[in-house]
Amino acid sequence: MAYKHFEAIEKHAGLLGILIAIFVSIGGLAEITPLFMEAHAVKAPAGVEPYDPLRLIGRDVYVREGCYLCHSQMIRALRFETERYGHFSTAEESVYDRPFQWGSKRTGPDLARVGGKYSDQWQRLHLMNPRQVVAQSNMPGYPWLASRKLDATDIQARMRTLRRLGDPYSDTDIAGAPAAVAGKTEMDALIAYLQGLGIRNEPSPPTLPPDKTRQGGAP
Ligand code: HEC
Repeated sequence: MAYKHFEAIEKHAGLLGILIAIFVSIGGLAEITPLFMEAHAVKAPAGVEPYDPLRLIGRDVYVREGCYLCHSQMIRALRFETERYGHFSTAEESVYDRPFQWGSKRTGPDLARVGGKYSDQWQRLHLMNPRQVVAQSNMPGYPWLASRKLDATDIQARMRTLRRLGDPYSDTDIAGAPAAVAGKTEMDALIAYLQGLGIRNEPSPPTLPPDKTRQGGAP
């Protein structure tokens, strides 16, 4: 008896197409809906602050320069990853990242917990010309960042927009933003951003002590 119903479906391409669309949608929704619910349930853990103005601009420089094309910011929960980079990344660490910088391309190492691994001076030299500190590096230099003063005209508008999206910036934070970034260069902002990765905004501190002897290398 059941076969008769199948026959009707199989012999009518239009009906078959419609039913396929309906059932694939149901399957898709069953997978996607719980993920949406879960994503909304992720809250910043106590004590985690949104990016301060300098790091916020540094993050924009990171995105503008396309650092994410070679660097991921997501440590997977696999032993060889956690041994190398530290505690695996968690969803709540990215709660103030719009858009998140997880990435999947690793021409260079993962940067999720690079904060504090090197000195500011190392980061500066490395960004000016990576070969100064890592002889075999194929990362490009970004020397122009050092001479570009920050354009802080829209920092307050950005912070207000982020506040609308849920970042808990206070009026004082926003009022003080232009002063906090005055006179800084894009290089300063990018370094501040890098030096906070895995430390300032993120709840889980790195599990590995920073290894001062490391010279970068392949991911
Ligand atoms: C073409 C690919 C490429 C791009 C683009 C790139 N990097 Fe790199 N990066 C690398 C490679 C390869 C290394 C490893 C060698 C080294 O340390 O220079 C590296 C290393 C690093 C390190 C040291 C990481 C560690 O744990 O030792 C930092 C920090 C870094 N990059 C930041 C940046 C920033 C910030 C940008 C954007 C302004 C950027 N990179 C753009 C390829 C890239």
